[in-house]
Amino acid sequence: ASPGQRPPVIWLHFGECTGCSEALLRSMYPWIDELVMDILSIEYHETIMAASGHQAEENLHKAVEKYKGRFICVVEGSIPTKYNGAYGKIGGKTFLEIAQDVCPKAAAVICMGSCAAFGGIPAAAPNPGGYKGVSDALGIKTLNLPGCPNNPVNLIGTVVNYLLMGKLPAVDELNRPLFAYGHTIHDKCPRRSHFENEEFVLEFGSEEAKLGYCLYKMGCKGPETYNNCPTVKYQGGLSWPIQAGHPCIGCSEPDFWDKMTPFYEE
Ligand code: SF4
Ligand code: SF4
Ligand code: F3S
Repeated sequence: ASPGQRPPVIWLHFGECTGCSEALLRSMYPWIDELVMDILSIEYHETIMAASGHQAEENLHKAVEKYKGRFICVVEGSIPTKYNGAYGKIGGKTFLEIAQDVCPKAAAVICMGSCAAFGGIPAAAPNPGGYKGVSDALGIKTLNLPGCPNNPVNLIGTVVNYLLMGKLPAVDELNRPLFAYGHTIHDKCPRRSHFENEEFVLEFGSEEAKLGYCLYKMGCKGPETYNNCPTVKYQGGLSWPIQAGHPCIGCSEPDFWDKMTPFYEE
């Protein structure tokens, strides 16, 4: 695509661990350089841009003004809302102020990861900073790509849909695209026949674990978790939690850190 066609992207970081950006940097279909140089026009991203300090602030300000109403705002991280947002600041402004300023000026706001979509780990109880997902914190509609981290192919699929169709993909009631979150992990799990045959792993390192039996009794939350990990896997299709022998902990569901725990119990 020519530079004129590449959608400008402004990527904001709030309360998060940068794991979602790290997952994106390991994207293989397409590779990250192709994504950044040929498919998108990333105007601002604190992890990968060269600018820092006042120059970075200026870049953000200029990009927002230049592409107002046209840019895609990707948000990674949740927003602290208590004490006037005092739990998180960049360049003297709270995350809340930055989000309130930038997000409404975007053509679309895409929440990358469970933090931005639903609050994620920063919002786990007792949540002293009052962290919330972007939609909740700002009272706006966002397209949600939960997962901790979110699989970068889900961002790429969303952006490609936007480029080809001129709109965001169809979503469920939590504003997650159906192409990625239309089925549970359990629906597509390669260990499903073991579940049906009641062949369960009861201990890590056991003979049953080696045989690849179902992880339900080790606490697997696959039956309650909507995501496409079994079909797309991570790191360019290399592996994913259940393939590696670990139960799904429900990382893409709202409040997973509180609602899916204890992780290793049925
Ligand atoms: Fe990190 Fe998980 Fe939040 Fe992504 S969703 S930024 S991986 S804590
Ligand atoms: Fe379902 Fe989990 Fe068992 Fe897979 S390992 S069949 S997702 S309970
Ligand atoms: Fe997360 Fe479960 Fe996939 S823990 S990465 S949704 S298998």
